[in-house]
Amino acid sequence: MTKTKTITINLDKNSYDIHIGENLANEIPKIISPFVKRNKIFIISDESLGSIILPEIKNSFIEAGFEVFVSFVQSGEKSKSFESLEFTISELLDNGIERNDTVIAIGGGVIGDLTGFISSIIYRGINFIQVPTTLLAQVDSSVGGKTAINVKQGKNLIGSFYQPKAVIIDISFLSSLSEREIKCGLSEIIKYGVIGDRDFFYWLKENVDNLTKLDQDCLIYAIEKSCSMKANIVQKDEKEEGDRALLNFGHTFGHALEKHFTKNEVLLHGEAVAIGMSYASKFSSNIGVLKKNECEEIINLISDIGLPISINDIKGEITKEEILNLMMFDKKRVNQKNTLILLNRIGEAFINNNISDKEIIDFFNTENIQ
Ligand SMILES: NC(=O)c1ccc[n+]([C@@H]2O[C@H](COP(=O)([O-])OP(=O)(O)OC[C@H]3O[C@@H](n4cnc5c(N)ncnc54)[C@H](O)[C@@H]3O)[C@@H](O)[C@H]2O)c1
Repeated sequence: MTKTKTITINLDKNSYDIHIGENLANEIPKIISPFVKRNKIFIISDESLGSIILPEIKNSFIEAGFEVFVSFVQSGEKSKSFESLEFTISELLDNGIERNDTVIAIGGGVIGDLTGFISSIIYRGINFIQVPTTLLAQVDSSVGGKTAINVKQGKNLIGSFYQPKAVIIDISFLSSLSEREIKCGLSEIIKYGVIGDRDFFYWLKENVDNLTKLDQDCLIYAIEKSCSMKANIVQKDEKEEGDRALLNFGHTFGHALEKHFTKNEVLLHGEAVAIGMSYASKFSSNIGVLKKNECEEIINLISDIGLPISINDIKGEITKEEILNLMMFDKKRVNQKNTLILLNRIGEAFINNNISDKEIIDFFNTENIQ
């Protein structure tokens, strides 16, 4: 085992550590022992991990003397639903979960968001631990305490702010992840460089090939950097009343596209964010705040990874009016105005919450979206 790096999120009584390392599966019972009150543990996981990651973690708990109950949900965004919420809560209650028990989320962002929400409402809140197994979840969704499910009107509209007791990030879990999912994680990593750390952006540009090949040192550095940036923002604005919204760079367009194309996985979350980041960069450049060459650098990096940069890069159709209609369910929309996270330069983002629907439609016209 390599040395584990630890980042602390300081939120008074809700503070917690993010442990980052390699081959940590056997360490999980020890790491979470301060939060476990009896020798029974409840895991919520993704059915596709039943044969690849879960057996090792389950064994480590059994060897440490725990009884383990696992509730599986189907893979994919469809599991962030009221149906999965009800089914999983029912399974936990039927299997004897108590007020002082701890739930562990083992999976990608879908599992983390669902488990976090369940943990925040079952018995009015019980301990939960995040063990993210996708790169996207390791650099973003497992940290910061946003939990949610989707409804037909839009993504993440029902949820809570509820912090985990610990986050355990093991890069060994990434070896079974598809290249497409790795790229989705890289999409969120780019976001951190673009919104708040120019040097990190240029480091990413240099190291993009190493990251795609899962070079361990590069991965650990990029994960640590991303989690530290997220920790800094969350510590200042836990409930997204201000600067935390900067983390939504690319997400206003992205969530609308993801909602439309979610069926059959035409567009995954990280891919939708990649298109959204390209559009937000172009929007910033069109209104004269971001230099054209910096806009191109951002879009080139996204494209070099093999991520889509426009809806023309994906199979499927959507009109500008459909995108706008979906954007109306964005949580950041206030007084019928749209909020976009825009850029002054690479490494410096700002929130503009006064963008009219006409400005959005005009932008789509410049992009030749019908
Ligand atoms: N809460 C937040 O702050 C936050 C931030 C960003 C994204 N999100 C949410 O996260 C979700 C996207 O997360 P995601 O991209 O991790 O999706 P996901 O959870 O659907 O996982 C992607 C796919 O990878 C599979 N998988 C997971 N781990 C694997 C592994 N180690 N090996 C092989 N396959 C594996 C899953 O079965 C799934 O098919 C979206 O719902 C998004 O809204 C939340």
